Amino acid sequence: MSQLDLSGVLCETERAFTLPPACYVDEDILAFEQERLFAGGWVSAGRTRDLAQSGDYLAFSVADTPLIAVRGEDGGLRVLANTCRHRGMQLVEPGRGECRQFVCPFHGWCYKLDGRLFAAPRMDGAAGFESADFGLVRVRSEERAGFLFVNVDGKGPPLDDWLGDFETVHEPWRLGSLVTASQREFTVECNWKLFIEVFNEYYHLRKVHPHTLSALYATPDPVDKTDGAFVSQFGEHARRGSVGVLEEAGSGLEALPGLSGRLADGTRYTWAYPGLTFAASRDAVWVLEAVPVTVSRTAVRLTLLFDKASLSAPDFRQILERYENRMAIGMDEDIVVLEAQQLGLHSRLARPGRVCPELEPSIHVFHRWYAGQLIGAGLAAG
Ligand code: FES
Ligand SMILES: [Fe+2]
Repeated sequence: MSQLDLSGVLCETERAFTLPPACYVDEDILAFEQERLFAGGWVSAGRTRDLAQSGDYLAFSVADTPLIAVRGEDGGLRVLANTCRHRGMQLVEPGRGECRQFVCPFHGWCYKLDGRLFAAPRMDGAAGFESADFGLVRVRSEERAGFLFVNVDGKGPPLDDWLGDFETVHEPWRLGSLVTASQREFTVECNWKLFIEVFNEYYHLRKVHPHTLSALYATPDPVDKTDGAFVSQFGEHARRGSVGVLEEAGSGLEALPGLSGRLADGTRYTWAYPGLTFAASRDAVWVLEAVPVTVSRTAVRLTLLFDKASLSAPDFRQILERYENRMAIGMDEDIVVLEAQQLGLHSRLARPGRVCPELEPSIHVFHRWYAGQLIGAGLAAG
């Protein structure tokens, strides 16, 4: 791969070009992203509240690294390699589960919830074998705002340096106290960056969501000036009430308890690099966690967060369905264009375009950060 020229990205939004198409289709770029951004950065692995009881676990992968997030007997939440220390078998299938211990399906080595090896059948003849030396490899993880952040290679900066003022910016939404109302996982046939980009720009609303979401939003505020590996932009709604449900479907929930004034009539769209993005709205927060599978396939976990009190409303099931339907409709409309955009970017004739300063500034802020990572790694020039 010849060195990319990113000078068109490293300027103010009004002059900015989009990322070169290679960034969305090139295998070497994906390898860099996996190594430096996903294994080397801090990646969200879901909500800590969804692993509430001792033995609750989530098996997932970051940068082709199978992991298990598990609540231990001591109440601590840990992230362990999902790789047996005997001969490398993946211990549990991806997904959620609950167990008292991890038993390898291959030869039966047994691990405690904290990763310690406590039984290894018929190993008495192995000279000098100490089970204390063969616990599951532990991965660095920490909780912020209710999300479990993971740094797979253990070499990333301190999480607070990575996140900067992320927690302050989102304080009114009280993210840590929100609970999961529903969750689903799916894959989309486009690059992971395209998937998150469309979620953070208003430019496509009129063309892609003309009869559904377009009328819900007013022109947003400028992007916030923040530090940390994230971009965030607040915008008011075009009408009072929820944008999490479609008008004809019925009403939504009350505003979240920490919100008042403009915040109770708007939505904050945030992208915490690399793969976490969410819409913190007046009444709910919808979260997307995206990781690359290939250059043109993205695995997504979509989570809907509500205030805890709303879960006990008598008509909660119907209300939840309205939010889920609205999300599904918006997502389906986006996916049609995303998959066609991926095809267009695969063309040998694709070229960098220009950013719409009024309605795509968040995308450019991400591009600038991303360009800095590529240049820092010697893969591009600025
Ligand atoms: S690979 Fe796990 S016990 Fe052999
Ligand atoms: Fe959209």
